[in-house]
Amino acid sequence: MSSPNDPVASLVTIRDWLRYCLTRFRKAGEEQGLSHGHGGGAALDEAAFLILEALSLPVDDINPWLDARLTHSERERIAGLIEARISTRKPLPYLLGATWLQGRRFRVDERVIVPRSFIAGLLFSGAFGSAEGETGTLVDDPLAVTRVLDLCTGSGCLAILAADAFPNATIDAVDLSAAALEVARANVGDHGLEERITLFEGDLFAPLRRCRYDLIITNPPYVTRQAVMNFPPEYAAEPVMAHLGGDDGLDIVHRILEDAAAHLTEGGGLICEVGSGREALEAARPDLPLLWLDAEGHEGANGEAQGAGEVFWVTRATLA
Ligand SMILES: C[S@@+](CC[C@H](N)C(=O)[O-])C[C@H]1O[C@@H](n2cnc3c(N)ncnc32)[C@H](O)[C@@H]1O
Repeated sequence: MSSPNDPVASLVTIRDWLRYCLTRFRKAGEEQGLSHGHGGGAALDEAAFLILEALSLPVDDINPWLDARLTHSERERIAGLIEARISTRKPLPYLLGATWLQGRRFRVDERVIVPRSFIAGLLFSGAFGSAEGETGTLVDDPLAVTRVLDLCTGSGCLAILAADAFPNATIDAVDLSAAALEVARANVGDHGLEERITLFEGDLFAPLRRCRYDLIITNPPYVTRQAVMNFPPEYAAEPVMAHLGGDDGLDIVHRILEDAAAHLTEGGGLICEVGSGREALEAARPDLPLLWLDAEGHEGANGEAQGAGEVFWVTRATLA
């Protein structure tokens, strides 16, 4: 017989479960520092995402569903996810096997970092121009972009989104992790992009020989050793090679800047995410006119605001 305190027996509607999940998350936040950086940034966003994705409902708005009643097995699934999220401290997308970025669903598991790059939003923000031919954008005409490189592709999320943003482009995507590339391959297949995206295993530009690209996109590992050592469990659950960028976080960024010009077409450019590395990078490379872009707001591992000045753009002309 179920106890009167058993949530599976007593909670009926999505509204009930949203309230319950939020209470559990807030309590776990106070008692154990549960971190919500992988599930929308705040406890309420993550609770809504957990419920909607578990029920295969559209994840953008929970309001139309609040009074919907759940079956017993649906309640069991949601209760199990709430328990697992709090007891394992794994990022919710690992427990769900998926996350969403810019309206696209991506498979994820422990082989890849959970997709959340600021570059994803920038690809669709108008910064890269539009078919209407706006002036003053990073790329004159997105339809004229035919070759894109996604370095450090992980789950393949940015390569897949770039295929949307640049509909006439073929895309090469590189990662050093064979395990990450298995996930990327599944995502490329899910989105039907096998003809446009080619995956390469290797160290940065090494597998690409002399290929040149109109655009290089990269969200490389850029976290300092000290910050990695202090990660909350949610971030520590991700592959360390996806985060660790050496003592100052910039080891891989410097290597990319060193070699990018040789892989860009004449009018090409590089967009690169560096987290909080802006000051250190500007100090190390005062010769480079880096243009810092403002991405939409996100929250970091400790709930801090992120997104402004974490991504730079630099052209081949100034790199060469
Ligand atoms: C921050 S994650 C980014 C993943 C994905 N682009 C995203 O935005 O979600 C960095 C990725 O770089 C890969 N990586 C680390 N060192 C690398 C290297 N030397 N060459 C290529 N990829 C590397 C990691 O395996 C990881 O998948």
